[in-house]
Formats: sequence, structure tokens, C-alpha cells
Amino acid sequence: MLKGKNIILGISGGIAAYKTATLARLLVKAGANVQVVMTPNAREFITPVTMSAITGRPVITDFFSANSGEWHSHVDLGLWADALVIAPATASTIAKMANGVADNMLITTYLSSKKGTPIYIAPAMDLDMMAHPSTQHNIELLRSYGNHIIEPRSGELASHLVGKGRMEEPENIFDFIMRDVRYGISRDLAGRKVLVTAGPTVEKIDPVRFISNFSSGRMGYEIAEEAARRGAEVTLVSGPVNIRAKNASITVVDVATAEEMFAECSAADFDIAVLCAAVADYRPADVLDKKIKREASDESPTVRLVKNHDIAKVLGEKKADRQILIGFALETDNEQANAIDKMRRKNLDAIVLNSLADKGAGFATTTNKVSIFSSDGAKTEYDLKPKSDVANDLFNFINQKFLTD
Ligand code: C5P
Repeated sequence: MLKGKNIILGISGGIAAYKTATLARLLVKAGANVQVVMTPNAREFITPVTMSAITGRPVITDFFSANSGEWHSHVDLGLWADALVIAPATASTIAKMANGVADNMLITTYLSSKKGTPIYIAPAMDLDMMAHPSTQHNIELLRSYGNHIIEPRSGELASHLVGKGRMEEPENIFDFIMRDVRYGISRDLAGRKVLVTAGPTVEKIDPVRFISNFSSGRMGYEIAEEAARRGAEVTLVSGPVNIRAKNASITVVDVATAEEMFAECSAADFDIAVLCAAVADYRPADVLDKKIKREASDESPTVRLVKNHDIAKVLGEKKADRQILIGFALETDNEQANAIDKMRRKNLDAIVLNSLADKGAGFATTTNKVSIFSSDGAKTEYDLKPKSDVANDLFNFINQKFLTD
């Protein structure tokens, strides 16, 4: 994917610098030419020998090569680069970049990069330094210049482990960059609120048993990631799944039941809602407070079901003109007719049909094959592809159909 692409990997002096070796390896493996530029302090944390062994290029730290006296031209380097990645970016490096304090090779290279060159910055520092208004202000400055700040999600595990300040994992930095390479750097959803539902719901029968389905949440999570990558303010209402959102800007609201999901979605403000969750249509009328016992009776017990709210339908009924509502349909028979019928009944603007009949499509896979039907009667068919590609297709579709006049 990165064949022939020139990437400058800037390393500043933080403990997380050891992780940058992994990032360099991932970039090289993907085919990129990786030129490492280190700040003088970074050499205390990871040796230039390690980095040059991984990248196959001598590391640049100084304006002049110590051996030959050769001058390293930061201007040439800046022109050479297709992308700059600065990981870790310490408080000091962030401050210097934000204010143009060009006292080392990394900052001069940053300042010399061509206009429009994507620049990815992964901050890493002590928690208090990160929280300080100076640092926060500098990060906001960098963002306002169009740089992409890559931060880990916080608060999902013990905060001392993944609290703000830790550098994002190399795999996620790589994933973030690759998405831009694959799909183009569009931030066309900036300023828009996107609501996504994902995963199954779980409807309790008794304290240990429930009714649910095979939804993995993958499709919905990819939709949320793609919306966030495009600059949207994303709320992801998620049933219980085994995956996590990556983009730090996504607000994840965890729910278990359909009625909880309904409550969250009803309260949400959105411009675009993509309802991807496999919501249980029914729940047990009574949740028993004790486990049903086999010995309790010779008769087979009956679980009486009552209807859950149809979230899509309710949102469709109260939809404002500016709002765009997209549903998903997974059908086993009469697919097309059922999907179109659903779109009409629920007042959706479009519906994405994925068929269980297609190999590699649907629930627990990482790929999907979809057709999108829109309320104007159009049908667009797509090939089998990774769910992240499907998410990208979907927002290209939404953009072209509903957002461009
Ligand atoms: O009618 P069906 O459940 O097949 O419709 C699928 C679409 O409706 C999906 O977009 C799904 O997320 C949504 N849905 C919902 N609330 C329900 C049932 C389905 O939002 N209770």
C-alpha cells in the first residue's frame, strides 16, 4: 500500500520512543521509504542504530553529519516527504512545532514540509504535562494548522494504564495512517453529528440467561471509525461486543438491551444516523429474579415475549428535514423487496442490504457485500470487501446523494 511513498518518522525524547521501532517496522513492511529524524534527546531513549537497521537508512539527528561534515538539508527532506509522522511527540516538541521554534533538525524539517503534506502527531508525555493548559493549547494550535493528532482513547481501562498522555499504540497509529492512504484525506463530515448503533442487544430471561444474536458489531464500529476519520462528531451506541473503538474522538455509549439503546438514540442529536445494530425485536415479558431451575417443574417453561421499540421507525417518524437516516437489513429471503419495504415503512433515506446468502457477508466476518437502496428508487451494488471499505463506500454514497447540492 505504501510502495514508493516517502515517510519521515520523527522521534522526540520520550519513553514511548521504544515503541516507534514497531511503527517503523510496520511502515517499512507496507513498502514505504522511511527516513528517521531524531531530536538529540531521543537518542537517550532508542539508539539510532536500531532505527537505521529497521529502516535501512542512516538516522538523521544533526544539521551536519558528525563523520563527513555533510550538511543535511531540511528543505530537501521536507520536499522529499509524502507524509510526516512524529511519534512520540513530547510536550517540548509539540510546543516547538506549534510556535515554529526551529532549533533542531526535526522541527526544521517539519517547517519545511510541502503545503498539504499530511502530518501525524502522536503525543506522549506525563499526565500532568499533557493536561496542562499550555500543552492543550499547543495541541489545539497544531490541529488548527491541519495536523492530525493521534491520541489513545482514555478511560476504558484503569486510567494509569491508558490515561491521557500515553502514546497511541504503533498498530493504531499505522492503522490511522493507512486509512488516509486507502480512502484519501477527506474531512468532509467536519461539523456534522453522526449517530451509529452497533452490535447485538441482550435481553435477559433470568439472572444468567438471555436472548441475543450473532452480531459482532464490526460493521457498525467501522462506520463509526470512518465517520470520525472524516471529522464527524460521532456517538456510537453499542451493544455488548468484543471490539473497541480506536479513534479517540468517538463517544461510545455502552448499552445492553434494546430499550436502553432506544433511550440513548431517542435522546441523541444527530445530522446523520446509521443504524447498524442487530436490535432484538422482542424481550421476555418478565425477567425472573431467580434462575429457572430444571427441577422446578416437569412442564416445559414458556417465555412470553413482548415487542421492543423499533428505534429506526421512531427516529424515522420524528425525522427533521436536515436529518439523514440510514438503516441496515439482513435478510434470508425476498431480500430486495423486504429491504425496500423496510426503508419505506421506517421512513429511512437509504437502506444497506447485506445478504446472508453471500459468502463472506454478514455477521461475524471482517468482509461484507452490500447493496444500497435509496428512497429515490436507486440501487447501488458493491463487491465483497473489507468492512472498513464498505464504511468508506457508505459515506461516499451519503455524501454524493445527500450532502452535495
Ligand atoms: O426490521 P429489521 O429489524 O430487519 O430492520 C433493520 C433495521 O432497523 C436496522 O437498521 C436496525 O438497526 C433497525 N432496527 C431498529 N430497532 C429495532 C429493530 C431494528 O433500529 N427494534
